[in-house]
Amino acid sequence: MQNFKIETDRLVITKFDESMAEIVHLNSLDVYNRKFVPDEVFETIEEARGAILFLMSCYDGENKGPLVYPIILKSGENIGYVQAVPLKDGEWEIGYHIAENYTGNDYATEAVMAFAPVIANQLGITHIWGISRGDNLASCKVLEKCSFNLQDKSI
Ligand SMILES: CC(C)(COP(=O)(O)OP(=O)(O)OC[C@H]1O[C@@H](n2cnc3c(N)ncnc32)[C@H](O)[C@@H]1OP(=O)(O)O)[C@@H](O)C(=O)NCCC(=O)NCCS
Repeated sequence: MQNFKIETDRLVITKFDESMAEIVHLNSLDVYNRKFVPDEVFETIEEARGAILFLMSCYDGENKGPLVYPIILKSGENIGYVQAVPLKDGEWEIGYHIAENYTGNDYATEAVMAFAPVIANQLGITHIWGISRGDNLASCKVLEKCSFNLQDKSI
């Protein structure tokens, strides 16, 4: 398995390992995740472990994705993830989750800003999509702060 490690001022973005199952389960339970990305809520540790094992298998899968990486504070806490997910026709979408207790600290913005160029380079792509529900104001704000260009706005 190739190394993957991005360091920012406050964060380390690296690969999942199985020991993260419990925190991934706990992080996934927050109210915003349930509302905006319900398919990424893991109700049990075992469910989270299954997802992690699948995601770990994708790291060696010739960039077919999804490519999902945990976000760890330099003080050690696992606070969420950032990801690149394949769309059709060779396009990719960026995604992110920051656990509710840690939101509002610019962590998602810091992670996306660091991750996007690295994963674009790894995938050999020149752009990546940010797709958000219009009522997910925090997510829209993250994309705006990361200078994503607005291409389409539909209800
Ligand atoms: C979206 C999410 C990743 C944001 O994480 P975060 O670390 O708090 O993001 P940041 O701190 O970098 O930026 C959030 C911005 O949204 C703003 N914001 C948060 N809630 C808001 C609201 N209800 N209305 C308007 N702005 C809001 C914050 O004030 C901040 O902007 P600012 O820096 O100008 O003050 C986090 O809320 C989350 O994981 N949500 C659930 C999963 C999800 O929706 N993922 C995205 C799917 S498209």
